[in-house]
This record gives sequence, structure tokens and C-alpha cells, in this order.
Amino acid sequence: MNRTHRSGAPKEPRARQSLDPEMLKGTLLEGQSIETLQALGLVTERGGANADAHRKLKQINHFIHQVTPALDEIFERYPEPVLFDAAAGKSYLAFALFELYIRRHGRGHMYACELRPDLANRVQSLAERLGFGDRFTSLQGRIIEVPLPERIHFTLALHACDTATDEAIVRALEAKSDFIALVPCCQAELSQKLKACKGPLSPLWHHPWHRREFGAHYTNVLRTLTLQARGYQVNVTELAGWEHSLKNKLITGKRMGNYYAPAQEELKQLLQQIPVSLWLHETLKAREQASTPEDHTVQS
Ligand SMILES: C[S@@+](CC[C@H](N)C(=O)[O-])C[C@H]1O[C@@H](n2cnc3c(N)ncnc32)[C@H](O)[C@@H]1O
Repeated sequence: MNRTHRSGAPKEPRARQSLDPEMLKGTLLEGQSIETLQALGLVTERGGANADAHRKLKQINHFIHQVTPALDEIFERYPEPVLFDAAAGKSYLAFALFELYIRRHGRGHMYACELRPDLANRVQSLAERLGFGDRFTSLQGRIIEVPLPERIHFTLALHACDTATDEAIVRALEAKSDFIALVPCCQAELSQKLKACKGPLSPLWHHPWHRREFGAHYTNVLRTLTLQARGYQVNVTELAGWEHSLKNKLITGKRMGNYYAPAQEELKQLLQQIPVSLWLHETLKAREQASTPEDHTVQS
């Protein structure tokens, strides 16, 4: 219900205004418990949420809604599905997926990776306090370095900063992840590298603002083609409903095989026209050459 000022003008919601429990219920997914959200600090003791927490919850649940068919599929197909949340932050997403899938089915494992030790430790204690500990592992470290099972079934990276999204792609490819879902965050890598890239197309990124925008766009195009070239069927869409986030692009992929030649060719042609060296490609090449997957895996 819209409240009004005494003047009669509609009252603007304050940034941290509390939303009542009834309003919050409409945001929750079936199987999502208020107790876990309270433990995470997203929901207050009264069962309400401030506007920031409510927005975050909406984002997470919208993301889950988009990847539900893929999650259903892996829980149908595998007895012990392995989920990997890269750049997990406070692990809101990882805890939600844990409740909705792993706890509900009583099988599977969630690995949540976070660089910051304070966050990763907090997540591990919370997982233990909530009784999730035997099927939930908080990994502290860089996505590219943390020990993971040899096989992952679903890789997620929600707002992983800059090349952290690429780290998630590398781990997903190495672990033959059946599905991948990425919502890229800030992307600075190519805006620097494009400066040195001269040619008939360079007016596209001549101005610094265009360079940032084009750099981010080109990065995501190259990520998409790289996934396709490595056998993923890819979909790029908008996370509708994320009205307060500019980082609103969802890239999902389903693994169909080891490679796809037409996409490999498109990628090659594109890189001939706009030649940049991407951290993702350099890293994939270096790790494939080193070809010592044992160094980066643990047995599940
Ligand atoms: C913007 S937050 C997003 C957190 C969470 N996915 C969410 O959407 O609420 C990005 C997180 O990624 C972490 N991060 C950045 N680079 C990383 C890396 N290379 N490996 C692991 N975590 C990383 C940061 O510490 C931060 O907590």
C-alpha cells in the first residue's frame, strides 16, 4: 500500500525502510526458509527485510528461477550433483540453492569459493551452525586455485569481479561442467588492451567511455564464443526484474560436446579483426599446455 505525505504527495520509500513479513513472503521460493535467511542477515527477527536485503533476495531468487530447469535436470541425472558457486561473497546464492536442492533431495554438494578469508570463514561457520556442513564446503582462495572435485555439474558466478568470471569459466571447462551460469560484473581488462588496438574498427573504442562499454561487450562476446567453441550451447539474456542493477546480463551454457567447429572459426575470424589477448584465452592455453589437472583437483 502506498503511503502518502501529509502534503498528499506519495512517500518515497527510504533506502533502508523495513518491508513487512507479508510482503516478503511473495519473494520467497517454495522450500526457502525464513530461519536460514535470518541467519544470513537478509531477514529481520520479525520476518521482514530492509529494502536492500529485499532487493538482494529478489535478485538471487530471480537468478535461481532462470536456472531451475538446468538444476532440475542435473538432480534427475546424477545421484550426487556437485554445484560450484564461484565468487560467492556471503554465499546468499549458495545457501539458497543448498536449501532448495541439496537439502530437499538429501544429496549433492555445494562448493562456495570466496577470496576474502573473513567472508569464507563466516560462511563455513554458518553452514555448520545450520547443519549443512557435511554437504557444504566454503573454499577460501582464488577461483582458479582452490581445490575442487574433478567433475562439477553446475558452475555459477554471480557478479564475479572482472576476470574472476573468466576464472569460473576456466574451472567449469576443466571440470566439464554440464551447465554454467554467469552474470558478469565490472569488466576492465579489455578497456586497457583496446587502447593499443589500432585499425579500421578502432573508432568503435576511440573514446574512453566507448572503450569501457565496448570492452565489456567484446569481453562477453568472446566469453560466449569461447564457451560455444568448447561445446556449450549458449544463451545470453537479461535478468529481468533487476531494476536496480546495471550488471544485468545472464550468460548460460549447456555442455553438448567437447567442441563446436563453426564457433571456433567465428572466434578465430573475430580475433583477426579485433586482435586482443584475453586473460581467459592465455590462461586456458597455459593450463592446457601444463596439463596437470591433478594439481587443481581433489577427489570427490
Ligand atoms: C560483487 S561480489 C558478489 C558476491 C555474490 N556472488 C553475490 O552476488 O552476492 C564479488 C565477490 O567475489 C570475490 N572475488 C573477487 N575475485 C575473486 C576471485 N578471483 N576468487 C574468488 N573470489 C573472488 C570478492 O571478494 C567478492 O566477495
